[in-house]
Amino acid sequence: MLRFSLMKILSYFKGIGLLLFLCPLAVKAQGTFIPVETKDDALVLHVTGEGDLNTVYFGKKLSDPKEYQITPQLYHEDETDMRNSAYTTAGTRNLLEPAIAVTHADGNKSLALKYAGQSTEKINADVSLIHIRLEDPAYHTEVTLHYQVYYTDNVIEQWSTIVHHEKRSIRLDKYASANLYLQAKSYWLRHYHGDWAKEMRPEEEKLTHGIKTLDSKLGTRADLFGPPSFMVSLNKPATEDEGEVLLGNLEWSGNYRIDFEIDPSNGLRLLAGINNYASDYSLKPGEEFETPKLVYTLSQHGKGEASRNLQDWARKYKIVDGEGPRLTLLNNWESTYFDFNEDKLSQLLKDTQKLGADLFLLDDGWFGNKYPRNDDHAGLGDWQVNKAKLPDGIAFLVKEAEKNDIKFGIWVEPEMVNPKSELYEKHPDWVVKQPQRPEYYMRNQLVLDLSNPKVQEFVFNTINGLFTQNPNLAYIKWDCNSVIYNAYSAYEKDQANFYVDYVKGLYKVMGRIRAKYPKVPMMLCSGGGGRVDYGALQYFTEFWPSDDTEPLERIFIQWEYSYFYPALTSANHVTNWGKEPIKYRVDVAMMGKLGFDIVVSKLSPDELSFCQDAIKNYKAYSGAIWHGEQYRLQSPWDNDAASILYVDTTKSQAIIFNYLINNRYGAGTHLPIKLKGLDPNKHYAIKEINLYPGTKSGIKEGVYSGDFLMTVGINPEVHEGRTSVVIGMDEAK
Ligand code: DGJ
Repeated sequence: MLRFSLMKILSYFKGIGLLLFLCPLAVKAQGTFIPVETKDDALVLHVTGEGDLNTVYFGKKLSDPKEYQITPQLYHEDETDMRNSAYTTAGTRNLLEPAIAVTHADGNKSLALKYAGQSTEKINADVSLIHIRLEDPAYHTEVTLHYQVYYTDNVIEQWSTIVHHEKRSIRLDKYASANLYLQAKSYWLRHYHGDWAKEMRPEEEKLTHGIKTLDSKLGTRADLFGPPSFMVSLNKPATEDEGEVLLGNLEWSGNYRIDFEIDPSNGLRLLAGINNYASDYSLKPGEEFETPKLVYTLSQHGKGEASRNLQDWARKYKIVDGEGPRLTLLNNWESTYFDFNEDKLSQLLKDTQKLGADLFLLDDGWFGNKYPRNDDHAGLGDWQVNKAKLPDGIAFLVKEAEKNDIKFGIWVEPEMVNPKSELYEKHPDWVVKQPQRPEYYMRNQLVLDLSNPKVQEFVFNTINGLFTQNPNLAYIKWDCNSVIYNAYSAYEKDQANFYVDYVKGLYKVMGRIRAKYPKVPMMLCSGGGGRVDYGALQYFTEFWPSDDTEPLERIFIQWEYSYFYPALTSANHVTNWGKEPIKYRVDVAMMGKLGFDIVVSKLSPDELSFCQDAIKNYKAYSGAIWHGEQYRLQSPWDNDAASILYVDTTKSQAIIFNYLINNRYGAGTHLPIKLKGLDPNKHYAIKEINLYPGTKSGIKEGVYSGDFLMTVGINPEVHEGRTSVVIGMDEAK
């Protein structure tokens, strides 16, 4: 059988290549094999006789691991023998895009990395960490490649550390986190672009020879034009349930660069890491440079399974309190903007309770006295309560919240400064700006220099002060509204280190806050989705996907984020954007972490009662939405109606959200939609929930078997008169 399949492979190769394959079983593979295995996949590294480390296989796990030894022989016509290098160096025989390039202390630009050993740590029963050490025989430069394997979830996190013992500093001209190698007939890349209020717009294309680069040079708020998330389908575009597909995200909140290079042998070289743009990092002898992690998962069964792998992994291992509950909330940003006082807020606190939400979130505008924050031109950086608006301070509001039996949270944007602020007057050297050039602003503000430890201390103290003065503070929304223009740090000795040290400084602060306040929920916001990556999310419970809360737009934005992030991380607020009725807006927000940003007192009695019931329903099905498995049933991109299902881990409760996307004549669901992820042997009682007062269910309610629902399906009856339909399913015993 084996011989037969090998003969088949052989028949594809001709000429010189063929000679190498004669009697493949007789050819004993040289060197050491290092399989990096998850439950279903294997990434196999090979140390050649010359000590080079190459990727010889990445795909579905083979049942006999010995057969990985055959794979090196399948590569052909590689004059350098390093197209599939596991960490490609520059300056020696490599002809393609390097993963690492350095300038040694003596000015020499060559690097060769030879295998020097490996070790494996068992983190727990499911997680292990493999380290592979590489050394340059000519220079004292070492790289360690790290592979953290999450076995059951089929997820790998990969990164590298670089260290040298030369006499003086060396320059890291490029320093990727990972250098993957995939082999297929063709590759299809899905990536995302956007801008403010237009986040996560996908584009999918066939990769051609050459290099396709996704990158950011925005410094902070780095994902504004595109996040470091991607999908690569092999051989053909993967669908929800079919095809081989790799999903990845670079865990870095600053400039990133992800290269997809098809080499002359049609292999795909994927190089991901910090963007080396203006960042040829100066590294002192003995200092260790750790790259951010690239997280990826490979699925043989389409994008849906891959996304569930990542969602599960994120909840278990990455985000804060991923397996815990979330708070529903009322935010005041769109109902008051900067115009509020104690009376107004006291009323909103009462409204929060009336609505049935758990927490009130006070947004921008509560601080600044010499330069009050009454609009976005002033006050940023002066984190003292504005005495005119809030004479009794935040403590009064926290107490008022308690009286109303709700929690209290607050907005901050601690990395930024308005030129009109006391902070700017006192510490102009803390601000990122070119000393000899005019300042240039985004939203009238500048970025604080977080590479400077004093600034790190200031930002930490800002947040820590809020908590120490208000121990019952229950939530933080951490905003970030500006990119970095005129990158220059008065603190850094070497400007090339600034972009990287900025993000490392940011993480230091976030890490300190998390260590001191491990559980408190925090939203990662960046003027919308300008900072959505697992680098920052490891310190947060949720993110703000976009300022665009128009529900139709939101369906598409939330849909695309859901491939990379679990639903409980996506903070979705019901606002007054758009013309859709309140039911549609609430139903859309419910597919993630539900919140409101509306004037509750302006709701009609029916609208209010609908919202109150919806919050109750949301809580009743939160087990499925927050911690269950997500199945995309019908995409909004190519159907009249989008449909998405969440089923809890015991498969005893599920919820389906259905939204009309297209309002052309007759648009709607004309056929049953087949459900997924249920237990075929269980029976489920199906009922329509989130019904607007005075309306009746339009679906065929009743008890159905999981088998029936997954084979035949159920029609949510979405059409012009029923633009959004939510269906609750509970196991009938
Ligand atoms: C941008 C955020 O995305 C909004 O939700 C709001 O918090 C404003 N900043 C406040 O300035």
